Amino acid sequence: MILIIDFGSQTAHLIGRRLRSLGVAAQYTDPEEINNQLRTDKRFTPHPSFNGLRGIILSGGPASVYEKGAPTIDKKIFSLGIPILGICYGWQLMAKLLGGTVKNTQKEYGTELLTSSVIQSGTVIMSHGDTVTELPKGFTATGSTRSVPFAAVANAQRKLFGTQFHPEASHTQHGVELLKNFAARVCGETLSPVTLNPQSIIQTIKQTVGAGKVICAVSGGVDSTVTAFLIGKAIGKRLIPVYVDSGLMRAGTDKRVTYIFTKLIKANLIIIDAKKRFLAALRNITDPEIKRKTIGKLYVDIFQEQAINHNDAAFLGQGTIYSDVIESKGSKHASHIKSHHNVGGLPKDLKLTLIEPLRHFYKDEVRELGRLAGLPQEIITEQPFPGPGYAVRIRGEVTGERLAQVKIADQIVVEEMKAAKLYDQVFQCFAVMTGAYSTAVKGDARVFAEVVAIRAYESADIMTSQWARIPYDVLAKISSRIVNEVPNVSRVVYDITTKPPATMEWE
Ligand code: XMP
Repeated sequence: MILIIDFGSQTAHLIGRRLRSLGVAAQYTDPEEINNQLRTDKRFTPHPSFNGLRGIILSGGPASVYEKGAPTIDKKIFSLGIPILGICYGWQLMAKLLGGTVKNTQKEYGTELLTSSVIQSGTVIMSHGDTVTELPKGFTATGSTRSVPFAAVANAQRKLFGTQFHPEASHTQHGVELLKNFAARVCGETLSPVTLNPQSIIQTIKQTVGAGKVICAVSGGVDSTVTAFLIGKAIGKRLIPVYVDSGLMRAGTDKRVTYIFTKLIKANLIIIDAKKRFLAALRNITDPEIKRKTIGKLYVDIFQEQAINHNDAAFLGQGTIYSDVIESKGSKHASHIKSHHNVGGLPKDLKLTLIEPLRHFYKDEVRELGRLAGLPQEIITEQPFPGPGYAVRIRGEVTGERLAQVKIADQIVVEEMKAAKLYDQVFQCFAVMTGAYSTAVKGDARVFAEVVAIRAYESADIMTSQWARIPYDVLAKISSRIVNEVPNVSRVVYDITTKPPATMEWE
């Protein structure tokens, strides 16, 4: 087993996922817990729950090692003879505690090229403000980037390793290889790759729900469909899928939901028309977080109203996945990035018990679970769409007019990407009403109108992404159609930012 000490990185959980997929057991803990154990137990016989400990990974995190109150670890940990890999903050902390120097020098956010003659060279994901400027004694550099000389380091004798980059990120080219080497060659773990198992999830749902009923929030998207499908397999007709039509969803969503839940899954689907309620609730709201929380609350209010109609339903099923959780501050030392409507937007007095069978899985795993459970290809390959819908693609206030604009613009993006056979090649592509205004000349008259941004990127697990290299001709067609067909738009721009640093959605 490899123990991951979580310093709050957005991708800490991804480390465990990578190890899990290699067949290596991984467990998480926070530094405080380990410090307590090291204080009371000089030999560090790890807690019985950390059975068979063979290695430790110190994750990244948002803090700076010199910051007051930054999470730290008792440096005795480095003398236990247990192999340790420090990633980003984890490496900086190791360096500082062992006598090296960390400075706030060169910031890097996004992809960089790692060169090494020891480990494999290739692109790596960086996301840091600080770097190690002087190595602790006994360490040598094994890889560097343009501006970080100690991007990969080793003290082979003490089995201590560090990377400034994130090997767990899917956009780090040979990251899995590096974790594999650490687990197998350094820690001596036996690799036995595992496959996902929908049956065990179905079994757990059966046990949790017992003879009860589940109201399940569905949107036609992959996550909620797979969730409802697994719940349906577990409890049959006691699943009550509810689709709340907020008016913020993609065109045709009601038809899609009806097809899935009446034809594919023979359940008693309830559709609630709440378009007016959502628009009214969003009036005058411009702050992205308040917007997300308002939407989350209204959704839950409506589900709770439904629970009164079905007063024997004690559970609320949601298609929450891990990326929603971590961005909404999913671990002790993590930063709060945004409140996904289904996580941070939930009220404290929720009267239903949440059931979220996919909470610990990533998008690509959810798709695979859906496929293994028997959902058709066209359902599981659908592009993701945010729960708060177009509301988070309208920077500023959501009005009926701006909603109509973003829907037309989005439809144009979808049509042109499909025509160019690119729609299925990208992870997501969409239009954003930016809230920025610029000057244009339309029919010889001055127009001062809104700028629309196009975003298209590829990703595997949502945690990192690269913007898609859409051919100029396709972009030209999209731009020309948007300025002509969407009322009150002055220009179109293409968003060329990776994640990190930029999130996929603008809000
Ligand atoms: P971000 O913008 O956080 O988006 O990089 C990551 C993925 O999640 C979608 N997204 C959401 N999905 N509720 C959801 O169910 C939300 O509040 C939400 N916000 C973003 C986004 O479209 C992308 O696929």
